[in-house]
Amino acid sequence: MSLALSFSHLGPTGAPAPTAIERWPSYDQRHPWLPRRRGWLSEPVFIQKAATPRSNRWRCEVNYRPVNFQQKFGLFSEQWMPKVVAEMNDYQFKVARLQGDFIWHDHKDTDETFIVLEGSLRIDFRDGAVHVSAGEMFVVRKGVEHKPYAEHEVKLLLIEPRGVLNTGQEGGEREAANDVWI
Ligand code: NI
Repeated sequence: MSLALSFSHLGPTGAPAPTAIERWPSYDQRHPWLPRRRGWLSEPVFIQKAATPRSNRWRCEVNYRPVNFQQKFGLFSEQWMPKVVAEMNDYQFKVARLQGDFIWHDHKDTDETFIVLEGSLRIDFRDGAVHVSAGEMFVVRKGVEHKPYAEHEVKLLLIEPRGVLNTGQEGGEREAANDVWI
């Protein structure tokens, strides 16, 4: 009993507990006419679980469901707007629908991986082009200028470090919001 009181400010693992939002009245408040007996009486503490940041709780939860690409593509229809579906270390996996011409750009600090899931993608380079079909992938090297093109809509998976913009450093109206999860 006294141990429970002594360590009441600690969580079950010994880590500091989340902010307490409500305490029962203290022993002195409940029994003001009795001698102080603090030190052995357990005083329950209500813990506000929501005090834990939502993002932290989310990260602590174990999710055993696979990411289903077909299901993810069913959630959006806009083109050239990559959506994050998973992360691995500092890398993000993004699904995207592309159709038509993009702009010339490069990524100064990182390679960029294109995995085509449906349709056919052409990536133009200043000195050539590569055609990537469903079931194929291609890695564009760091600093190499490229311009994706798809005659018909193509569905693909991009793999790149967190924070990489779709337009590289070019900016402009084709720049998509970053870190948008779906
Ligand atoms: Ni790129």
